[in-house]
Amino acid sequence: MEGGARMIVTIFIVCSIFLPLASAKLGPQGLRVGFYENSCPQAEQIVAEVVSEAYRKDPGVAAGFLRIFFHDCFVYGCDASILLDSIPSGEKVEKDSPANGKFLRGLEVIDTAKARLESECPGIVSCADTLSFATRDGSVLAGVPQYNMPGGRRDGLVSRAADIISNVPLANAPIQQIAELFVKKGLTQEEMVVLTGAHSIGVAHCQNFAYRVNKYNDTFQTDPKLDDADSANIKSACQRQVSNEEIEKTTLPFDTHTPFKMNAGFYTNLFKGTGLIESDQAMALDPRTRPIVGRLAEDEGKWLNQFARAMSRLAAVDVKTGSEGEIRKQCRSVNLENKGNTGIAQNLGKTNSDNNFDSSRTLIQASIPIQAIPLA
Ligand code: HEM
Repeated sequence: MEGGARMIVTIFIVCSIFLPLASAKLGPQGLRVGFYENSCPQAEQIVAEVVSEAYRKDPGVAAGFLRIFFHDCFVYGCDASILLDSIPSGEKVEKDSPANGKFLRGLEVIDTAKARLESECPGIVSCADTLSFATRDGSVLAGVPQYNMPGGRRDGLVSRAADIISNVPLANAPIQQIAELFVKKGLTQEEMVVLTGAHSIGVAHCQNFAYRVNKYNDTFQTDPKLDDADSANIKSACQRQVSNEEIEKTTLPFDTHTPFKMNAGFYTNLFKGTGLIESDQAMALDPRTRPIVGRLAEDEGKWLNQFARAMSRLAAVDVKTGSEGEIRKQCRSVNLENKGNTGIAQNLGKTNSDNNFDSSRTLIQASIPIQAIPLA
């Protein structure tokens, strides 16, 4: 076993011994820490090993899992609907949305973990739990203190690209709109700021921030909130005279100094005007979120602990438990026996109208053309 995997497994065992009360506690909607202790005792260890191995080859997977998980949980709950490649109706799935699509990293690692789980405990561990454990393990490898991740989620049968726009926050969305989305999911404004600290690791593609340096608005060519060095960096990365295909793949790290380390540098950078995406930057300017950003910037240890707690709350959003959904055999498609059973109303629990969506919002990823824009 690799050193990283051994560390996660050891911490996991220590936590299981010393936190018996926590492991006996039922969470909201029937989730439970140690859910597989009888049915598949090695489940979390298997996921930890697969994640450690993947992280050793590419530490970027930790960021990939966090983003996949967030986008999964915000679209009809943490039910692994984001992992489906297709649904029987033939509709476009969540993965097909420009907000997800080719930008999702780490999907094949989830496939590997699930394949190992199926070979050792067939039909027991859901894809939704596999993704939850992998996300926890990735974030711990990136610096978050070890935390318990309850299990017991079941997998959804439906995934629709059309549901993304109203549930997933966009890079240029105003704070008010983003906060409303979090509150609709049962999370607080503070948890929104705490969780967005996930942008301490990982990357963003030019199409999510290049507009900030190219005819930003009628008054400013460049977003005045951006620090000068940063706007020069964005111009040089995103306005190169290269093919559209190459620009489309171009990314910049959220944190250039420690791109793989979860730390409070994300929050201090926001005060310096070096937030890569506009919505992050806005959190340091909005009077409702600025004091939260300030507190988190000053106390990294506190933020990391709060992050772990907020992740467990995110992981409980609109979950399916009991006899809802299914335990998929493989994460990219619904089980054969349920292929004719994917009616929207019966599987989602909620409909678009329940969530009172504002469909007037534009999807930045879809609306900004990706091209090598000549410098003005
Ligand atoms: C608050 C509203 C949020 C907005 C507007 C937002 C938006 C974005 C955008 C535009 C990207 C870049 C995607 C790309 O170009 O590839 C991104 C990446 C990322 N997001 Fe968020 N996000 C938000 C909250 C969150 C939360 C709550 C989490 C996790 C708990 C998260 C985790 C990540 C991670 C880790 C990445 C990097 C992914 C990678 O490197 O592959 N984000 N986000």
